[in-house]
Amino acid sequence: MKIKNKILVMSGKGGVGKTTVAVNLAYVLAKKKFRVGLLDIDIHGPNVPKMLNLNSVQVKIQNNKIIPVLIKDNLKVMSMAFLLNSDDDAVIWRGPMKHGVIRQFVEEVEWGDLDYLIVDLPPGTGDEPLSIAQIINPITGSVIVSTPQEVALLDAMKAVTFSKKMNVPVIGVIENMAGSVFGIGGARKAAQKLNVNFIGTIGLNEKIVKSGDSGKPFVTDKQLEETKSFEEIVEKIIEHCESNHKQGGKIK
Ligand SMILES: Nc1ncnc2c1ncn2[C@@H]1O[C@H](COP(=O)(O)OP(=O)(O)OP(=O)(O)O)[C@@H](O)[C@H]1O
Ligand SMILES: [Mg+2]
Repeated sequence: MKIKNKILVMSGKGGVGKTTVAVNLAYVLAKKKFRVGLLDIDIHGPNVPKMLNLNSVQVKIQNNKIIPVLIKDNLKVMSMAFLLNSDDDAVIWRGPMKHGVIRQFVEEVEWGDLDYLIVDLPPGTGDEPLSIAQIINPITGSVIVSTPQEVALLDAMKAVTFSKKMNVPVIGVIENMAGSVFGIGGARKAAQKLNVNFIGTIGLNEKIVKSGDSGKPFVTDKQLEETKSFEEIVEKIIEHCESNHKQGGKIK
């Protein structure tokens, strides 16, 4: 099992669009024929299955390995939700137990060889990002999602600091839900201030909510302006990963 690039999708604040970014990033990469794994380690609120219409799917175990759910030949998904009995099963776990299950998700899932493993994290800088940074080493980088308003930016800054502290290079900051409601441009400024790359803006669009709810990645809608912006963001992520390899994984 060889995984070339491992990317964490993080944020300081909840509900800013991490899962939306993770699912659509995995989808666009798979469309480009990369071999992709999407790992949802939001143990308390695993939302990836809902956004891919995989509700009530359960995983199989073969030769002591967990077989991830196959969306296409080159897109595999694993989520805590696949191990729960019903959609509203709550998980009450402490740090060490979470660490154990996250380790299993990485080591005991039959990922096969992958070009990209995209990890969707819960919000904040708690147990899960710490665990994943310890278990997967080295991580290619983090993508930090923020909405444009002040409170979200402050939290995004914490996520940047946390990522750097864990020795995870920041691939870039994405501003999501930009527009008349939350404003525009705040995340770009914050990224400049923190001296990290800003890799793009996704507008606030109710079609994105609908596509998330219906289990269809929004990038399947080619008419959507946000699809174009998102594809440009993905290009920047690919560029980062490829130049990182050329330099022997030394980009910090
Ligand atoms: N650009 C956007 N425009 C409109 N709605 C969006 C946009 N991005 C995400 N959403 C919607 O906002 C809600 C929260 O998004 P999402 O679940 O991706 O956030 P999250 O950061 O993963 O949340 P959590 O912290 O709970 O894991 C979802 O209903 C999603 O469809
Ligand atoms: Mg989420």
